Amino acid sequence: MFLITGVTGTTGSLVRRLLLDRGLPVRGMTRTPSRPDDVRGDFTSPDSLASALTGVTAAYLVTAPETPVPDDDLAFLAAAQAAGVRRIVRLSAIGTGEVFEGSVLAPHHHTADEALRDSGLEWTVLRPSTFATNMLRTPVYNLTDDAKHGVIDPADIAAVAVEALLGDHRGEVLTLTGPEALSVPEQAAVLREFRPVEVVDVDPATIDPSWRGGVLWARAGHSAVVTDTVERVLGRPATPFEQWARKVG
Ligand SMILES: NC(=O)c1ccc[n+]([C@@H]2O[C@H](COP(=O)([O-])OP(=O)(O)OC[C@H]3O[C@@H](n4cnc5c(N)ncnc54)[C@H](OP(=O)(O)O)[C@@H]3O)[C@@H](O)[C@H]2O)c1
Repeated sequence: MFLITGVTGTTGSLVRRLLLDRGLPVRGMTRTPSRPDDVRGDFTSPDSLASALTGVTAAYLVTAPETPVPDDDLAFLAAAQAAGVRRIVRLSAIGTGEVFEGSVLAPHHHTADEALRDSGLEWTVLRPSTFATNMLRTPVYNLTDDAKHGVIDPADIAAVAVEALLGDHRGEVLTLTGPEALSVPEQAAVLREFRPVEVVDVDPATIDPSWRGGVLWARAGHSAVVTDTVERVLGRPATPFEQWARKVG
């Protein structure tokens, strides 16, 4: 049995669909179940995690805390160990653990990734760049000026996650990007070919300090990274932004 956390979210919903397409047994974890194959689970409720994880072999772990603390991940890992889960694939973020201007980037992801690595479970950590789907927000808040990102189609992240859930890439940290680095204004220009996009520039001084480090890291050019990991894992190129835009337009 595969447990998909974040199953109502951007990548979890796609991971579920891909596993079902392969005829594999899937349980989706959400705080508000609405499908027969959903189970109620809340990272802040250990009892619900124990119940959601019963009989699970491999889990896709997505956390999205409002404040950057690793508590949700640590609670899930403890419950997974107690339930005898064999393998976890965790969604982290590009740049996690790098030191920039004296601070560790994404410390909550860093702590959770390290805890998973030290858990004794089989593990894979996915560190994607900016999701293309961020451009579907209304408006799009541009935190990073003209800085470029190896923007990635979340469907590519989900496809890599499935390979990892099936047991490939154990003990690997996979930095995932699209095939080209584009700034938010450049992404907006492409997406406007297919649908309207409103972009609002944000002064980084106004960003919550707990999230600002990653923004300044990107503005300094460090997110302009393109890897071949998606192609290496999937045996086909990562999806170009223009192709993703055509799909959602
Ligand atoms: N967006 C990007 O560009 C980007 C880039 C790199 C990495 N990431 C990482 O991707 C991750 C996902 O972020 P996202 O914003 O795209 O979120 P998302 O996966 O679209 O949605 C968040 C999911 O978390 C679930 N959830 C929230 N609180 C929960 C709780 N207390 N217990 C159980 N489930 C809970 C929600 O399920 P229910 O509401 O149904 O319970 C929802 O399915 C984050 O860790 C982020 O750092 C994002």
